[in-house]
Amino acid sequence: MQIHTSITSLRTARAKVGRVAFAPTMGNLHDGHLSLMHAAREFADTVVASIFVNRLQFGQSEDFDKYPRTFEADCEKLAAAGVDHLFAPNEAEMYPQPQRYNVTPDPELASVLEGAYRPGHFRGVATVVLKLFNIVQPNVALFGKKDYQQFILLKNMVRELALPIELVGQDTVRAADGLAKSSRNNYLSASERAEAPRLYRQLANVATAVRNGERDFTRPCTAALAELERYGWKPDYLTVRRRADLKAPRELGEPLLVLAAARLKTTRLIDNVEV
Ligand code: PAF
Repeated sequence: MQIHTSITSLRTARAKVGRVAFAPTMGNLHDGHLSLMHAAREFADTVVASIFVNRLQFGQSEDFDKYPRTFEADCEKLAAAGVDHLFAPNEAEMYPQPQRYNVTPDPELASVLEGAYRPGHFRGVATVVLKLFNIVQPNVALFGKKDYQQFILLKNMVRELALPIELVGQDTVRAADGLAKSSRNNYLSASERAEAPRLYRQLANVATAVRNGERDFTRPCTAALAELERYGWKPDYLTVRRRADLKAPRELGEPLLVLAAARLKTTRLIDNVEV
């Protein structure tokens, strides 16, 4: 695997290859990321990954400085997963001056759910992803569906800005007890880790109720929220939305998603289950 810390070096390598599949990350890699790398190989002969902890998408009260940086271990995992090129710029390379040109995503999508609790987050995500796309020039880009709202928002960005890139959403990778793999899981204590799969179980319960014909979605959602609170969680939201645009469901038969964000002590976890 070739490691590129400069845009020039990555561009020189990019110019020598054909189709590229690209998986951007912020490092601290787990099996969810590695599934993106393995899937990427199905779409192109050359697989490019990036590691860049993007300050723009962190709120003032969020964990930018605390975000785990595990570069050496990440490189070993990416090489073992068959990644050909890693783009790993530092902040001076990505943002040599303050980023004054930013992508403003559709507020109807960017200001709800995660966006309501993390103002500015999706602006930072869309801006860095567009910049990474301009640097890497991928044909295909892969994102995990655990961050479902991010995936839909980026898909819309690609469509509305006519970027010649196919976006692929990869299913969430879970531990045997159901907990979605996430870099945030590293923050959990042993007892919190044992409690954490309850979030997935509650989402799965709601999905089962909806699959079994429940049309009053507030009923199973309220029960799930109460159960989480009973075990010490502080939920931000747990709701049923349309998969296509994350708006409230309107008609029978629409593909749906149950999604939630909740805090377990100091760690905020998000997850979702397709109905
Ligand atoms: O999902 C992530 O890890 C980040 O939001 C991304 C897409 C790499 C942008 O920084």
